[in-house]
Amino acid sequence: MLASLSFLVLLVCHFHGLSHAAVPATAGGGDGQFVYNGFAGAGLDLDGMAVVEPDGKLMLTNVTSQLKGHVFHPAPLRFHDRAPAPTQNSTARSFSTTFVFAIAAEYVTVSGNGLAFFVTPSKNLSAASPSQFLGLFNNENNGNASNHVLAVELDTILNPEFRDINSNHVGVDVNGLVSVAAEPAGYYADDTGVFKNLSLYSGDAMQVWVDYDGQ
Ligand SMILES: *[C@@H]1O[C@H](CO)[C@@H](O)[C@H](O)[C@H]1NC(C)=O
Ligand SMILES: *[C@@H]1O[C@H](CO)[C@@H](O)[C@H](O)[C@H]1NC(C)=O
Ligand SMILES: *[C@@H]1O[C@H](CO)[C@@H](O)[C@H](O)[C@H]1NC(C)=O
Ligand SMILES: *[C@@H]1O[C@H](CO)[C@@H](O)[C@H](O)[C@H]1NC(C)=O
Ligand SMILES: *[C@@H]1O[C@H](CO)[C@@H](O)[C@H](O)[C@H]1NC(C)=O
Repeated sequence: MLASLSFLVLLVCHFHGLSHAAVPATAGGGDGQFVYNGFAGAGLDLDGMAVVEPDGKLMLTNVTSQLKGHVFHPAPLRFHDRAPAPTQNSTARSFSTTFVFAIAAEYVTVSGNGLAFFVTPSKNLSAASPSQFLGLFNNENNGNASNHVLAVELDTILNPEFRDINSNHVGVDVNGLVSVAAEPAGYYADDTGVFKNLSLYSGDAMQVWVDYDGQ
């Protein structure tokens, strides 16, 4: 089952200011597909610093340090299907999502820590730390398989303790901040196929695609 999610995020952050947003994507009730063309009136669940601005953009944090904000699709979405008897083994559903974000840093040379698209079993992330923990984990639970959290991080600070590859990368996180896969942020040009770097905190709007193949 394929689900799609589309949203526009405006993120403003600053050195050690934090944030990240995320909206679980995938099948729940109905066909599990949804699109947000702006967030005004979308009925999302927000916490922390997150606000929907009058023009429909979502702002996760402001430039003040050490803050976090989360945004959730309001209804839980089904990520597992149970196989028929006798195995009853559950299988992961495939999903796709895309969203547009911008990170407006207070200084041109440094920014806050970044943001992440995430899937989590609980909307209560009050115990998660801001800054390098991206509002998803804390020093105690980072890396614990009981977290059941999948995240795609857009990370603008090199944290050696999490083995970050650089200060401008995209990483896939499973239950913790040591990414299971990471690459410098960028894209392959349609015409030449050449890889082009993108600076995540340039303030420019950028589009992210996340595709998960559960098979
Ligand atoms: C960011 O928001 C916090 C909490 O509302 C506030 O105390 C702080 O002054 C804000 N920072 C800026 C730069 O507006
Ligand atoms: C179901 O899961 C169990 C435990 O992981 C595994 O041993 C078994 O092979 C699976 N059965 C099928 C039909 O995939
Ligand atoms: C949220 O989690 C915190 C700490 O993990 C806990 O103290 C609090 O009771 C929880 N809140 C709700 C509404 O479950
Ligand atoms: C992982 O989290 C579970 C549930 O909170 C906890 O019982 C367990 O002790 C944790 N494991 C480690 C190694 O901290
Ligand atoms: C792109 O970024 C990578 C990693 O930061 C760097 O090694 C490389 O030199 C950059 N390439 C260009 C063309 O700027």
